Amino acid sequence: MKLPSTILAASLAVAFAHDSNHDQHIPKLVGGRRLLAGLESRGGRASPHQRDTAKVPQFATKDDGGLQSRADQDTKCGPGVGSCASDLCCSAEGWCGTGTIYCAAPDCQMNYGPGCDANKKPSGADTSDVARPKLGSVLYGGAGIYDCVKKGDIALTFDDGPYIYTADLLDKLKSYGAKATFFITGNNNGKGMINNPSSIYPAVLKRMHAEGHQIASHTWSHQNASQLTNTQYTNQMVWNEIALNSVLGFFPTYMRPPYSICEKNCQTILSNLGYHVIYFDLDTAGYLNDDASMIQTSKDIWDEAIDGSDPAKKSFLQIEHDIHYQTVYNLTDYILTSLFANGYRAVTVGECLGDPSSNWYRTGPKGSGGTTSTTTIITKTTTSAAPTRTAVSTDGTCGNGVTCAGTRWGSCCSASGLCGVGSEYCSVSKGCQPAWGTCDGTATSTKTSTLYKDPKLTSPPPPPATTTKPTSTPTGPAVSQDGACGPDVGQTCSGSSFGTCCSPAGKCSSNTISCLAILGCQKDYGSCI
Ligand SMILES: *[C@@H]1O[C@H](CO)[C@@H](O)[C@H](O)[C@H]1NC(C)=O
Ligand SMILES: *[C@@H]1O[C@H](CO)[C@@H](O)[C@H](O)[C@H]1NC(C)=O
Repeated sequence: MKLPSTILAASLAVAFAHDSNHDQHIPKLVGGRRLLAGLESRGGRASPHQRDTAKVPQFATKDDGGLQSRADQDTKCGPGVGSCASDLCCSAEGWCGTGTIYCAAPDCQMNYGPGCDANKKPSGADTSDVARPKLGSVLYGGAGIYDCVKKGDIALTFDDGPYIYTADLLDKLKSYGAKATFFITGNNNGKGMINNPSSIYPAVLKRMHAEGHQIASHTWSHQNASQLTNTQYTNQMVWNEIALNSVLGFFPTYMRPPYSICEKNCQTILSNLGYHVIYFDLDTAGYLNDDASMIQTSKDIWDEAIDGSDPAKKSFLQIEHDIHYQTVYNLTDYILTSLFANGYRAVTVGECLGDPSSNWYRTGPKGSGGTTSTTTIITKTTTSAAPTRTAVSTDGTCGNGVTCAGTRWGSCCSASGLCGVGSEYCSVSKGCQPAWGTCDGTATSTKTSTLYKDPKLTSPPPPPATTTKPTSTPTGPAVSQDGACGPDVGQTCSGSSFGTCCSPAGKCSSNTISCLAILGCQKDYGSCI
């Protein structure tokens, strides 16, 4: 029964749109999303995306057969347990390992897994010293912006990309003559760094800009700001700047906080870094309805707000996510058709706020950076006053008055604010922070290209150890009866009731991310996209 949740969803969206108490706004948004997710679950259709970002669906557990099975990876990690060894990732379920399902942001536990994608800094010239004058009249930092100001404007925005659907989305926007704003996440969901020159993303980013769309930041790896130190949060912003600047030669002044979470510290950091903090007043929750049988719910939310509304009196700042298939290939057509039919303009966020495009970006330093600078980490304390005394880390994080000296994790404080031992933590050339622990100054030369080699994209998991294609042998793998698949169990997902693609972890699934060939979907044991 779709109707009740549709009505409730629509009224929630309208409630967001009309809520003028912005200080109270953030918890309500989060709560609203939870509520929607809960409704879907109670309806017997548990949403695969209960957060505003795609999750890597197969959590790494000790029993999953493992993408990698080296003995040193079968170690537990996490709060109260400890960190993984240098270069290993701590999965959402608390196991050390490597590969996408352990390392992908935002789920990899970055405080316990040095190798988490969230802790990998992109290569490129450091942007932290760029002057950040606050030009124009649009609010910087603070409680943020929820509404467009120019009547008749609708700012369509897309978060969490770029992703494999984004180029098609650009085609679509072009065919309608629509402009949009992309809130870019630097490395999430195992897609690899956006400035990886061997990926599709640099070209997609350049094209966005060339075709008149606005490029904004959605942080480096989509972490929950409430769980980050000031140093970690600053890195989340500056690392995304470095990656964007290395592709475009500039970086944005507009950003949107992941999960709509940005409390006082975060607001202050963003103000100091010269960012406009952008939320939204219309959310069709396309990310919750990523299925042909559910996306109508998002269309109904849109219609509730737009159909019959008066463009002479109204404007909207709308949110979608270009990492979801139905959003890109179904909902967007519906939205664009309706938008123009109702007499609105499809513009960027900057334009709907009346901000000249010269204020949307800051020119960054030239050069690839990586090789020369040893001071690419952010050591400036941008928020609270300098601490008066140094505390010893109790949770393995460091910086801002918290030292690693004498802790069980190790005495070096890494560039990303984690205590540990070994060169990833202690080498000055990798950004070891001498103020908050010990560092060895005798840095060995670092290979400049290592940061670009994202293992997810350049070396997919090894193919199944069969010499003949299962489908061409008279006795191919049996159809999975228990959801397990792959060479170890000799079972295929083709024809299985658990989903038709075989995930990297050897589970039948119909989830988009599990089915993506570039992320290691096992094509010999099911279908992949
Ligand atoms: C973000 O972190 C805070 C503090 O740990 C937590 O209460 C909140 O539920 C988290 N929100 C999300 C969306 O993860
Ligand atoms: C698009 O959405 C409609 C519901 O609004 C659905 O019936 C249709 O199957 C979807 N199309 C595709 C190609 O998924």
